[in-house]
Amino acid sequence: MSADIFGSQPADEERLAELYDLEHDELVEDLPFYRELSRRTGGPVLDLGCGSGRLFKALLDGGAPRVLGIDGSAALLRRAEARIAGDDGLARAARDGRLSVMRGDVRAISTLNIRERFDLAVAVGVLPHLDGPEDALRLLGGIRSVLAKGGRLVIDDLGPAEMPVRDMPLSVDWRRQIDGREVVRRSELIRRESPEGLRVAFSTIADAVQPDGTIARLPASHQLWYPSPEALAALVKQAGMVVELSYGSHELEPLGRESGRRIYVVAYEFAAAPSHEVKVG
Ligand SMILES: C[S@@+](CC[C@H](N)C(=O)[O-])C[C@H]1O[C@@H](n2cnc3c(N)ncnc32)[C@H](O)[C@@H]1O
Repeated sequence: MSADIFGSQPADEERLAELYDLEHDELVEDLPFYRELSRRTGGPVLDLGCGSGRLFKALLDGGAPRVLGIDGSAALLRRAEARIAGDDGLARAARDGRLSVMRGDVRAISTLNIRERFDLAVAVGVLPHLDGPEDALRLLGGIRSVLAKGGRLVIDDLGPAEMPVRDMPLSVDWRRQIDGREVVRRSELIRRESPEGLRVAFSTIADAVQPDGTIARLPASHQLWYPSPEALAALVKQAGMVVELSYGSHELEPLGRESGRRIYVVAYEFAAAPSHEVKVG
């Protein structure tokens, strides 16, 4: 699987990235969590699979002296650059060397020649895009080379309550006016249980009505992987890490079957320190 989630799509990747952003920028409920996590960390932050930089402002507002975002998608990184250029605070941080982005595969961190060390790495919504346990282990193993001693990695994905429980036939997700054109997005979801967790084939079709009445169709498909609790715990252990804290929401509720998120704060065993140092909220 490629690191560029739009690379193998048949359609215009700039348009796909735009639609992707449209949905992701609506996610704001986790921003106070990341602002506070950054404040409590007080050191440089690595945003793994940063996309178009949705978390940058929260991390910098929290006081991170430096934020580096890495993503595999050139189209999303172009949007990150545009976001930075269009926001005074982000643009200033970039000018001052506090914020930058880099194209790279999060499964091969150690090959990216990153000389800095980070007190915090965050991977929000990234794990499901990896191919499975082997890829996840590459990510977890690679983080070691860029985390400062005592540094933590936060893995943040959908929780048990948000897992699809059945296949979803092709149906309409939304209709919107974008740049004066009507866009209709449909999606289809096929799930498969596997020993290492839930596999989901998620396909979308966005139809944009053109000024001449013709329809530009943007198909995209993603193979997603939601590791089971056992599989994720085994991977963390295999990578020589420990789960220090787990939460079921960004309000720090305990993780359980009803949780909408699964948030793990993990550290390397050699770096394990009293949990109050990183506890947020
Ligand atoms: C669901 S998005 C989350 C974006 C961002 N973290 C956020 O919370 O808004 C997943 C991101 O992971 C990136 N990604 C997936 N696999 C990757 C890989 N192997 N290397 C680098 N980035 C990857 C995608 O390009 C995408 O930007």
